[in-house]
Amino acid sequence: MLPVALISPSNVKNKSMQPRLDRLGAYPFERLKALFDGSQPNPDMAHIDAGAGEPRLPLPGFVAPTLQQHLAGFSKYPSTVGGMELRTAIANWLVHRYGLSSVNPATQVLSANGTRESLFAIAHALVNPEAEKQSGCEPYVMMPNPMYQIYLGAAYTAGAEPYLMACNSDTGFAPDLGSIPDKVWAETALVYVCSPSNPTGWIADEAWYGELLALADKYDFFIVSDECYSEIYWTDKPTGLLQVAEKLGREGFSRCLVMNSLSKRSALPGLRSGLIAGDAALIKRFSKLRSYTGPATPLPLQHIAAAAWSDETHVQAHLEVYRQSLKAFFDIYGGEIPAGSFFVWLPVEADEAFALAAYQQQAVTVLPGSYLGTADANGINPGSGYIRAALIDGPEAAAELARRLKEVRV
Ligand SMILES: Cc1ncc(COP(=O)(O)O)c(C=O)c1O
Repeated sequence: MLPVALISPSNVKNKSMQPRLDRLGAYPFERLKALFDGSQPNPDMAHIDAGAGEPRLPLPGFVAPTLQQHLAGFSKYPSTVGGMELRTAIANWLVHRYGLSSVNPATQVLSANGTRESLFAIAHALVNPEAEKQSGCEPYVMMPNPMYQIYLGAAYTAGAEPYLMACNSDTGFAPDLGSIPDKVWAETALVYVCSPSNPTGWIADEAWYGELLALADKYDFFIVSDECYSEIYWTDKPTGLLQVAEKLGREGFSRCLVMNSLSKRSALPGLRSGLIAGDAALIKRFSKLRSYTGPATPLPLQHIAAAAWSDETHVQAHLEVYRQSLKAFFDIYGGEIPAGSFFVWLPVEADEAFALAAYQQQAVTVLPGSYLGTADANGINPGSGYIRAALIDGPEAAAELARRLKEVRV
């Protein structure tokens, strides 16, 4: 396989004939496995796995009875768009959570099998490389860097060129929209936003979203906001794209889609259930693609999902655990608590060497930040020099993680 540096995007349009899938590097967890290959976690300590962002909280109480009650639904094909009970529960949640005047469950909401598949597939519905090629250029799909890697895979396989918006500490990890040339905006088909951000914890505010919406109107592109950490935050409840869109008086959330998930909010990553909501024209277009690819949620699981979107008690309980975990970690490790998500994004000297040393010396698995970022045209990867750790095992484990990470010597 080619070294990752040779196949990474560079913000320069690549006329390479290399198959698009081959331009993607190995997924971060594959790279982590390769990094640890032949090494052992310190055998004198219990292993702490803070590598993946998989919530590990008890199953909410309504899951088992709801499943039991709707078992017969496994005998039926579910529709891809999702049943009206689920879409209504989603619409009600959006209205209540973001103070929206209304969301139409029939035209502005779709069920998703978690956000991962929908974040990937949306580029295939909204990016039209053929039309762009006729005008002489491939479209850009913009994304934060470092990023949830699915955006990169989506851009490449949809026939677009990824454009990487660097997220550095000097802007508080906000993508600097003002630094992007007009020519790039003019060739952009789609922008992915991740707020609260995995991995940096940054949260987009109203002004940032407003700037992006103005650019979307000026340059004619779509915005997909990945808000799957929206219910995990330190102090201020994150603003959402639809909320800002309505506040700015945009008719029908034009150009905007949000994606959210029960994986993080309800600690149900195995349910594979999420939402897609926003501009009815984009929903219709995406729905057409989905009627061919068929990511339908089984009916009994749709009932669990509807119950989960309709209950805030378990979400509040989860939030309390995440807050206690963040506090426990930073009380010991020091530094600033991130605004959102359950990740900590810590500066270290050499991220790969640190992750390996943490594993061997302290039996801790963390992810090197460079695996979540990509080198730009100048060879700079904004994820380098950081590690990402997920606080998913409660406050005591978070405190122990902080103690151990402080002891790592590279
Ligand atoms: C930023 C971000 N978006 C989307 C997802 C996908 O989650 P799911 O498909 O479980 O909704 C994840 C999972 O870790 C994530 O970190």
